[in-house]
Amino acid sequence: MRHLLSVSDLTKTQAISILDTASELARISDSTIKKLPTLRGRTIVNLFAEDSTRTRISFEAAAKRLSADVINFSAKGSSLSKGESLKDTALTLQAMGADAVVIRHSASGAPQRLADSEWMRGAVINAGDGTHEHPSQALLDAFTIRKHLGKGSSDLHGLRVAIVGDVLHSRVARSNVLLLKLLGASVVLVAPPTLLPVGVESWPVTISYDLDSVIPTVDVVMMLRVQQERMGDLYFPNTREYSRYFGLNSERLKSMSANSIIMHPGPMNRGLEITAEVADSARSVIVEQVANGVSVRMAILYVLLAGQPLEAGNK
Ligand code: NCD
Repeated sequence: MRHLLSVSDLTKTQAISILDTASELARISDSTIKKLPTLRGRTIVNLFAEDSTRTRISFEAAAKRLSADVINFSAKGSSLSKGESLKDTALTLQAMGADAVVIRHSASGAPQRLADSEWMRGAVINAGDGTHEHPSQALLDAFTIRKHLGKGSSDLHGLRVAIVGDVLHSRVARSNVLLLKLLGASVVLVAPPTLLPVGVESWPVTISYDLDSVIPTVDVVMMLRVQQERMGDLYFPNTREYSRYFGLNSERLKSMSANSIIMHPGPMNRGLEITAEVADSARSVIVEQVANGVSVRMAILYVLLAGQPLEAGNK
C-alpha cells in the first residue's frame, strides 16, 4: 500500500490490519511512554487547503507520537492563497524531502492527482477531498464501532448503522458506506430526498426518509453535519423543520436500542442536526472518536511509511 486515497483502494484484510495496528498503538499510547521512535527522521507535511480542526491536529499528533518531523502548511498564509498551483506546491514539498503529504482540498480528486503525478515521490493521504472521500475518518469510525460493539470480532459483521442527514455533501458518508460494507455491516441512509446524491440507488445501502422508524432498529446512529457552506440553494424549508424530521433529540434518544451508540464526525451544529443534550449524553461517543482518530492515523502512517502492520509484541 503506497497511498491512502479512497476506501475502495483497501482490501478487507488491509482495513482490518489498520484497525488492529491502531488497537496496538492505542494500548501503547495509554501507557506512560506515548512516543515511539518508528518514524524518526521522516518528514510529514500537512497540506490543508480547506479549513479543519480535528483532522489536522489529529494527523499532527499522530505523526509526532511516531517521532516524525511535521510541517504544517495551510492555504491561508501560504502561496496557495496567492493562486499557486497544486503542481508548484507539490514540487516545493518534494524539494523539501517530504516522505508523506496529508492533503485536504476542496476539489474532489486533488489527492489522486497528486499521487498520480511525477511531482512528488512520497505517500499521499487523503484527509478529505471535496464531497468525495475521507478514508481516515471512516477508519476511525469503524475502529470506534468495533471497540464498542465488535464483541471481540475483527470486523463489523451483522451490525446495523444509520447515517443521517446531509449525505449529499458528505465525504464522510461516502467513505463510511464503502468501509462499513467491506467490514460486513449494513447501512441505512436517512435524509430528505434533496440531500441524497444522484445515483444513490446504486450504493450498497437502504434508504429511508423516516428517522423515527429507523432509530430503534440500529446499533449506531451516525449524524452528519448540515454543510451550510456548501449549500448554494435551498435544500430544506428551514432549520426548525430540518431538526424536527432529521435531528437527533432526547425524544428520539429514548427510542434507541440497548447498547447502541451515537456518533458525529464533528464539527457539530448543536441545535440543528443534534441537540446539545444528546451530543453530551452517555450514548454519545463523539469525543472518543476524536481520541481514536489519533491512534488510527498513527496506524495509517505506520502502515504506509514503516511498511508493515504492527503485530502485538513487534515494536
Ligand atoms: C468532516 C469533514 O471535514 O469532512 N469533518 C471532519 O473531518 N471531522 C465532516 C464535516 O465537515 O462535516
